[in-house]
Amino acid sequence: MQKLFYPKKNMFKNPLIKNMCEYRDLVDEFDKDYEGTWAKFANEKIDWFKPYDQILDESNAPFYKWFTGGQMNVAHQCVDRHLETKKNKAAIIFEGDNGDQRILTYRELAYEVNKTANMFKNNFGVKKGDRVVIYMPMIPESAIVMLACAKIGAIHSVVFGGFSAEALRDRIIDAEAKLVVTADGAYRKGKPYMLKPVVDIALSSGCECVQNVCVVERNGENIEWIAGRDYSYNELIKEQSSKCQTEPMDSEDPLFLLYTSGSTGKPKGVQHSSAGYILWAQMTMEWVFDIQDNDTFWCTADVGWITGHTYIVYGPLAAGATTVMFEGVPTFPDAGRCWKMVEEYQINQFYTAPTAIRLLHKMGADEPTKYDLSSLRILGTVGEPIDPPAWKWYYEVVGNSNCSIVDTYWQTETGGHVISPLPVATPIKPACATFALPGIIAEVIESDGTPTEIGEKGLMCITKPWPAMIRTIWNNDERFIKSYFGDCKKEGKAIYFSGDGAMIDEDGYITITGRTDDVINVSGHRMGTAEVESAIKKHDNVASVAVVGKPHEIKGEGIFAYVVLKSVPTTQKDQTAEEFALAKEINAMIKTEIGAIALCDGMIFVSDLPKTRSGKVMRRILRSIAKGEKITQDISTLENPNIVKSIEKIFNS
Ligand code: WT7
Repeated sequence: MQKLFYPKKNMFKNPLIKNMCEYRDLVDEFDKDYEGTWAKFANEKIDWFKPYDQILDESNAPFYKWFTGGQMNVAHQCVDRHLETKKNKAAIIFEGDNGDQRILTYRELAYEVNKTANMFKNNFGVKKGDRVVIYMPMIPESAIVMLACAKIGAIHSVVFGGFSAEALRDRIIDAEAKLVVTADGAYRKGKPYMLKPVVDIALSSGCECVQNVCVVERNGENIEWIAGRDYSYNELIKEQSSKCQTEPMDSEDPLFLLYTSGSTGKPKGVQHSSAGYILWAQMTMEWVFDIQDNDTFWCTADVGWITGHTYIVYGPLAAGATTVMFEGVPTFPDAGRCWKMVEEYQINQFYTAPTAIRLLHKMGADEPTKYDLSSLRILGTVGEPIDPPAWKWYYEVVGNSNCSIVDTYWQTETGGHVISPLPVATPIKPACATFALPGIIAEVIESDGTPTEIGEKGLMCITKPWPAMIRTIWNNDERFIKSYFGDCKKEGKAIYFSGDGAMIDEDGYITITGRTDDVINVSGHRMGTAEVESAIKKHDNVASVAVVGKPHEIKGEGIFAYVVLKSVPTTQKDQTAEEFALAKEINAMIKTEIGAIALCDGMIFVSDLPKTRSGKVMRRILRSIAKGEKITQDISTLENPNIVKSIEKIFNS
């Protein structure tokens, strides 16, 4: 029997779900009346401009629609509606890389959002349904710009600031963005870094759709301004009125696109709705983070990822909470930075990724003990399975064995948490996402819908549509169906498959076992092997390549590449030097095509890849080799079985 960790109930005053009985009651309520229960929450939580006619429209499955006929607005839900009761409450607390601080109250945030929305309408002609690409650092303007889009009904697509010009360009073109909002740059580890020059390169070809670039001046470094195209946000904002009409949005109007990796070389524009998305963002904020009126919530993600969307901006603000935004990195000026901030702002919920926990543990195991962290009640993790040693340190040292750890499992596509402990109710097993949240019908099954046996690996599926689910892939309905509804069926009906494997134990606890597809999870970020491969193939001397994940001490998984060259160096001496130079060039290529997040942690040059007779690369074998495992699979069916020995030899040399 695995040891259970029970929540320290005296740490919590007014939890929404107080114990497992209340959890089960809620699950039962959904079970008895699925749509009615969702409707109850939608009525209670959303400030509707116009009530909806239908709760769930399944007529065009899997293109499910929720709360059709209803009208509301996400910026109103997150900001304006709070003015009556919280106008002077801190909405966003910002800390810069160098420690500078800025606090925006709900009133100030409302004014900034309105001014920005007016600027988008008046200066850039942005209308409802237009796409705005946001390529920004972690500064309050990122949240302001997202909300300004929501206010006027424009669809934003935030592109993580670590992506390269090529990656940015692909996303701009796919979304046909009219406006790009960026910053000159920002600060990291005490030094300025630049973003606008990357936008300039991205826009240098193929982006005719973009009419304007709006630049927030954050670090004041010198940048180029293209007359008639580029405008300073800081200048234009001065002329704007702080009053702006709110666009009434249909429940199903898209709120945003967020590109994520899949199993092809081209990223997918995950499209989210307005009402369903914000409802779940707010509900999970309340259930999983037990957000109370006086709390200060800090999620360390970047706004460029879904975690930043849902749990820095939309969830906390919809719940009327105070959210912290941090420009810098957790290890600068030292590995105590986060704990110093927890003490300073009296953070109550701290939410980060296992990769950051491992890094902070390694770089400063005792750092948390130097600060007063007694304000903490909940510690969250997300992005990948957390390993027991990291969990233990997080629980004992950071949380002083008092905090509830919520291991939240979800995806860009799910909009918000789907499997997670409830901090006051759920007895926790370390490194286990525990149970599906009420309203989420999660099942671990075989592809034909048969439930897997206790302790057996199966496929992580969600068998009923839920309000915050992905609506489609932008401009690609077919890929949407194929990616998520093509693999698993239950009672003859296509159901949502996450791409992850999972296991249920004898107590019904769900453990996520990782991706079952060709997607690697690097530092909690999803990376498609096909995407990395297509970047590597752009190198002139690369004939073919296969990329796999390899366990990595800090990142969880690192990227490992097997490269077949067109022309191979001849002498042994040349070979070493030349391969070294090539590996450098290939990584430079990846940096240009995708960004530093996709750099290979290891690369070997091989004469061929193991293939089946039909020409399919046997990644399973390559994954095993990268892990240092003995090859036990039957390789006799390979077209070139001898290559396996040769690759193993190179790998081990
Ligand atoms: C993939 C989604 C959701 C925000 C961050 C990543 C993995 C996520 C967990 C967890 C085990 C997890 C899954 C999932 N994942 N959370 N708690 N335990 N694995 O979003 O880029 O859409 O990636 O991250 O493999 O499919 P994303």
